[in-house]
Amino acid sequence: MHHFRYIGHNLHCESVDLAEVARLYGTPTYVYSAATMADNYTRLSKSLSGLDFQICFANKANANLGVLRHFANLGAAFDFASGGELRRVLAAGADVKRSVFAGVGKTEAEIVLALTSGIFAFHVESEPELARINHVAGKLGVKAPISIRVNPDVDALTHAKISTGKSEHKFGIPLRFAAAAYEAASKYPHVALRGVQMHIGSQITEVEPLVEAVEKVAPLAAELKAKFGITYFSIGGGIGIVYRDALASGQAAWWEAQPADKRPMTPESYGAALVPLLKPLGLKVVLEPGRFLVGNAGVLLSRVEYLKRGHGKNFLIVDAAMNDLVRPAMYDAFHEIVPLHRDTTRRSLVADVVGPVCETSDCFAKDRSLQELGEGEYLAIMSAGAYGRTMASRYNARPLPAEVLVQGSAFELVAARETFEQTIAGEKIPAFLG
Ligand code: LLP
Repeated sequence: MHHFRYIGHNLHCESVDLAEVARLYGTPTYVYSAATMADNYTRLSKSLSGLDFQICFANKANANLGVLRHFANLGAAFDFASGGELRRVLAAGADVKRSVFAGVGKTEAEIVLALTSGIFAFHVESEPELARINHVAGKLGVKAPISIRVNPDVDALTHAKISTGKSEHKFGIPLRFAAAAYEAASKYPHVALRGVQMHIGSQITEVEPLVEAVEKVAPLAAELKAKFGITYFSIGGGIGIVYRDALASGQAAWWEAQPADKRPMTPESYGAALVPLLKPLGLKVVLEPGRFLVGNAGVLLSRVEYLKRGHGKNFLIVDAAMNDLVRPAMYDAFHEIVPLHRDTTRRSLVADVVGPVCETSDCFAKDRSLQELGEGEYLAIMSAGAYGRTMASRYNARPLPAEVLVQGSAFELVAARETFEQTIAGEKIPAFLG
């Protein structure tokens, strides 16, 4: 469920007319709904009732400071994939005492930062990383709280590029070697064993792979609790969202209309399947959702530059591009595209929706049927709240897009569009070139 809908002919985010945002701040601009994020957070929390749990928002999905503060206010902690993400959480005025740090390549500087900031735990992905954390903690005269990320060798049944839980993936320590890794870790003087972690992939829409992974890791978790007194089990993130019927899925009626066997995983079906497996362990359960909390809470607004009629093909050329939202180019991801002003009297148009970047992959949609749109009209690329702005680049010397946060009828610019000067700050012509 989300808070994007047409009121009259105009697409609104909560009570805000999105065309007004586009006119005020220009395009391309990301717009986020605070109420949708809060609803997603509450709904996921409710689905876990009966468990002692902590939601750690994976801020690789959306790291805008306003968004981070919103989640901190809701009671979330965070999952970081880098020192930069940790610093963003601190910059948002949140604390990191309940937050966790994942990633296969933590540098010494990042480990120092995490230790001095007092994070809840490192999610360790290899034996050499364990040795490094022990070494750095020793130099600082502290004990590093750690959990090992285990790789359960389970297929998450998602896109190959966002699958992480098979043994061929770079993540975690294979389940069969995990007990030995904990044994070794217990001998390190500067680490404290806190929990166990897994994460098998992203945009997971069926609960079965998660059940399989939890069932595989649970006996280890029980053994580690008995042997080393670990206190939590992190089951990672991965809950998928609806991309294809993005707008309609904001309403309960859409969900009710889906046949039971076709309904994508919901927080409720996720909780119903996993809580009974997790509860008997008597451990705190940590979750690291990213996409589920923010994906359907954001759209990317764009303006039509041209409608180009090609040979047997139409191209709707918009001012957003793959540098602003890379998911279609990178994962062939589907994003629904809708006009900000809906006019049912217009003809429909079948077109490729493309950006101005000089790459064929700069294409948001192929042969998409849309209401006919012309120069200067606006559209929204739906479900762009996760892995949108955080994956944006400056390719083709395009500045990073703006971000706006909406709450009710209030909205504010929470990241200004970059200026050209900001994009070249830090560069210089070397003296030897004269
Ligand atoms: N925990 C860990 C250790 C992760 O690596 C990730 C995501 C998450 C949690 C959050 O997963 P989520 O709940 O968002 O599925 N850029 C890709 C997604 C990459 C996910 C990377 N890891 C995309 O746009 O689809």
